Amino acid sequence: MIVLGIDTSCDDTSVAVLDENKILANLVSSHLIHTEFGGVVPEYASRAHSQLLYPLTMQALNTAGISFNDLDLIAATAGPGLMGALLCGLSFAKGLVCGSGKKFRAVNHMEGHIYSSVLANPQLEPPFLILLVSGGHTELMHVKNWFQYSELGATLDDACGEAIDKVGKLLGLGYPAGPAIEKLALKSNSPIALPRPNPKGLDFSYSGLKTAARNYILANPDTPIEDIAAGLQEAAFAHLIDRVTRAVDKLSVTKLALAGGVAVNKHLREKLRIAGRKKGFEVYAPSSGLCTDNAAMIAAAGLARYRRQGQSKLDVSAFDRTSLEEESL
Ligand code: KG4
Ligand code: ZN
Repeated sequence: MIVLGIDTSCDDTSVAVLDENKILANLVSSHLIHTEFGGVVPEYASRAHSQLLYPLTMQALNTAGISFNDLDLIAATAGPGLMGALLCGLSFAKGLVCGSGKKFRAVNHMEGHIYSSVLANPQLEPPFLILLVSGGHTELMHVKNWFQYSELGATLDDACGEAIDKVGKLLGLGYPAGPAIEKLALKSNSPIALPRPNPKGLDFSYSGLKTAARNYILANPDTPIEDIAAGLQEAAFAHLIDRVTRAVDKLSVTKLALAGGVAVNKHLREKLRIAGRKKGFEVYAPSSGLCTDNAAMIAAAGLARYRRQGQSKLDVSAFDRTSLEEESL
């Protein structure tokens, strides 16, 4: 089947075309306007989505070398994400479906991230863990079987990327700050020591680390920026690695998939691989284009869900929050 995938869950507009598990096009248009504000402004995200969806869809069809008539299924993210942003992509997809009579599938964005790992590593089979670590999410899930998930832990406050971005903003690094922090950290010889978060169970917490970094920066204005960057990364990533290794011990899984913008970080990937060699798990890390938000993963998850459950109803609504365990699209 040939699937058109659409994702507008946050600040990137993405449209993709998938032929079974082959990516024919996977376009992402980032809105530079958010850089000016040091974070995502939901209203601007929605406006940009509504302007970009049509031309990006035409471009995706063009890149894929197919016409609209060749499509079999249209899949769009229904949530979780920013409500106004989600409504743009979901309504656009519904409009295409109404006008063409094509099949329709609403997709849970988190399930999309799981399918990103599958697109990147077709041999990946459950059971596996997936660590989704981005500006909006920090979650550890257990994919017990296809369509059977259990959430092991999630952030109690800030997401990991959000905390990195906020400290980066204080350091004048612009938005998003993750890539600049990674580059700076490479130059550090003496990373600052910051407290390692340690909430109960397998949950995550990043607001304490963000505040500790802020207090350190205010109290020590002469500290080289690369040492702050490296210290922040060490503490932020140690927390992720701690949760992953605890989950591996608890569940005896041997595979860990990565997703989300922070998971692009090479230092994090290396640290996880070292932990994997010690604990006996293998790390499946998609390319950066499949780690960050993209519509190919939505097309892939849409196709899998369509094969399992058929079409979604056209009155399906967007949702800002839900757990995959309560999947009801
Ligand atoms: O998945 P993503 O593109 O968008 C969502 O948040 O949904 O993730 C963006 C986040 C930002 O917080 C950004 O600073 C972080 O990922 N990020 C990184 C790196 N590249 C992006 N964090 C650390 N190291 C990186 N190389
Ligand atoms: Zn995402």
